[in-house]
Amino acid sequence: MKHIGQDASKTTGSGELADVFVHPQALVETRRIGPGSRIWAFAHILPGAAIGRDANIGDHVFIENDVVLGDRVTVKGGVQLWDGVRIEDDVFIGPNATLTNDHFSRGKLRPVQVLETRIREGATIGANASILPGLTIGRGAMVGAGTVVTHDVPSNAIVTGNPARIVGYVDVLKVPQHPVGLAGAEKELPGLRAKGARLHRLPLIVDLRGALTIGEIQKELPFTPKRFFVIYNVPNTEVRGEHAHKELHEFLVCLKGSCSIMLDDGEYRDEVVLDTPTVGLHVPPKLWRVHYKYSADALMLVLASDIYKAEDYIRDYQQFKEYVGKR
Ligand code: TYD
Repeated sequence: MKHIGQDASKTTGSGELADVFVHPQALVETRRIGPGSRIWAFAHILPGAAIGRDANIGDHVFIENDVVLGDRVTVKGGVQLWDGVRIEDDVFIGPNATLTNDHFSRGKLRPVQVLETRIREGATIGANASILPGLTIGRGAMVGAGTVVTHDVPSNAIVTGNPARIVGYVDVLKVPQHPVGLAGAEKELPGLRAKGARLHRLPLIVDLRGALTIGEIQKELPFTPKRFFVIYNVPNTEVRGEHAHKELHEFLVCLKGSCSIMLDDGEYRDEVVLDTPTVGLHVPPKLWRVHYKYSADALMLVLASDIYKAEDYIRDYQQFKEYVGKR
C-alpha cells in the first residue's frame, strides 16, 4: 500500500522546493511538498506538514504541523487543517470546510489527546462542511455543502444535513430506472446491475377477506431458507446491514412501509426501494448491501439460506472489494 505523503518526503531539504509553485505572498515553512503542487496567496503551512504531488492549496488555507496530505489533493480557500488531520490521495476539500481535532476545547488548555481525522482516498468535502474530531470519511464519499458530520461516513455514501445523514450513494443514480419504488410497478420488474441480484414478483391473491402473497421454494424463492429474521422499529436515521456475505443468500420482502436497499458488486451499484409485500429481492453472496431510509412503520422479512454464522460476514468495504477481486 502506498503511504500518503510518500512523494512529499522526497522533496525534504533546503533551498527551493522542486517544481512547486509558491505564491510570493504565501508563507510556506515546510520543505515537504511534492512536485507539481501550487500554493496560493496567504496560505500558511507550518514546518511539520507534508503535502504530496500535484496538490492545489488555495488562498487563506492554514495547515498545522501534524498534517499529511496525499497526492492530487485540492484544498479550496479558507480551509484550516489542524494537527491530526490525514488527507489521502485525490481528495477535494471545498471552501471554508472546517476540520476539528478536539471534542472539548477550552481556551489555552491543549487537548489531552489530539484526535485523528481521516479523509480517505477520493472523498469530497463540500463548502462549509464541519467534520467533528476523530472521524473517518470513507473512500469516495461525498459530504454535501454545510453538512455537520458527527459520525464516520461509509465509503461512497452521500451525506447532507445537520447532523449528517446518508441520503444516497455515489454512482447509484447512473442506473436510469433506480431508485425505483415497486408498489405500483407493472408486472415487469426492473433488472438490476449488481451481479446476481434479482427482483421477484410474488403472487397476490385478493378477495373480500383481504390480500395474500406467496413465496414457494423453486418458484419465487431461489433457495431453501434455513432461517428468517425480521427488521422493524428502525429509526429513520439508522443505517443497517452494511456488510456482504461470503456464502449466504438472502431474500428480502418489505411486508409493510418502505426501505431503500443499496447493492454493490464492487463495480456496479443499484438502489431499490422495497415498498410492497408482493416483491422479493434476492441478494446472493458477494454483494455489499446497505439498508437505509426505513419508514417508521417498515417491517422487513429476511429469509436466509443458512443459520447465523458470524464468520460469513465481511464488514469492511475495502476487504469486500479485495474479496471480490475489484481492488
Ligand atoms: P447484524 O447482522 O449486525 O445487523 P445489521 O448488519 O443489519 O446492522 O445483526 C445485529 C446483531 O444481531 C448482531 O449482534 C448479530 C445478531 N444476529 C443474530 O444473532 N442472528 C441473526 O440471524 C442475525 C441476522 C443477527
